[in-house]
Amino acid sequence: MKLETLKFDNVFNIQDKNRRILVTKNLSPGKAFFKERLFNVDDIEYREFNPTRSKLAASIVKKISFMPIKKDEKILYLGASHGYTPSFVSDIIGDNGLVFCLDFAPRVVRDLYMICEERKNMIPILADANKPETYKDRISNVNIIFQDIAQKIQVEILFKNLIFLNPKGYVVIAIKSRSIDVTQNPRKIFREVEEKLSSRLKIIDKRELDPFERDHILFVCQKK
Ligand SMILES: C[S@@+](CC[C@H](N)C(=O)[O-])C[C@H]1O[C@@H](n2cnc3c(N)ncnc32)[C@H](O)[C@@H]1O
Repeated sequence: MKLETLKFDNVFNIQDKNRRILVTKNLSPGKAFFKERLFNVDDIEYREFNPTRSKLAASIVKKISFMPIKKDEKILYLGASHGYTPSFVSDIIGDNGLVFCLDFAPRVVRDLYMICEERKNMIPILADANKPETYKDRISNVNIIFQDIAQKIQVEILFKNLIFLNPKGYVVIAIKSRSIDVTQNPRKIFREVEEKLSSRLKIIDKRELDPFERDHILFVCQKK
């Protein structure tokens, strides 16, 4: 097995025979939270980061040119769900980073709590991302907002949360066209979303996420 360095902190490819497996350096060695495979290379443990389960992983495999999520960053993660992608964000930012993991569904936040118990850099928050006033006292300002909530009004919800983003901070947002309008052509929806985002943010890069996630796109943007 050979480890290939990527331009993203703590994210690598493992070359195993003819296969390439995306991995992150495991911040809690010996623990896999989602039955993901663990690999040991030169006495360092890595966790498989599956692009069919994570839009962040899919964007990396699809060669997004810039990803602000890196070592020591402070992030507000909207739509943390059971914590799959947030747990890899936790690997990437490492011990000195912090990720506020927010979701409004009590059933998934229960699972999320269990992971946050194991990770000092993950803070679970049960709240509605559309009501920032309900959690403004539980978080601090951040350099990055990651949003993956699959909602029709998700850009409007993102804009409400920009109060927490530092000047020149970054936004990473995943859009599922069917959540916005099932009847429309996904490309048309992506264009409309891009236009809306551009009113407050500079678009740095974007990637459609097929074949990992059909009719999804991920944008990386910066606060103007
Ligand atoms: C596609 S899942 C997120 C998957 C997760 N990002 C991952 O990769 O592991 C979308 C999540 O957004 C949450 N969600 C949707 N609307 C929300 C809102 N207004 N506030 C907070 N969470 C929301 C849902 O409960 C769901 O868990």
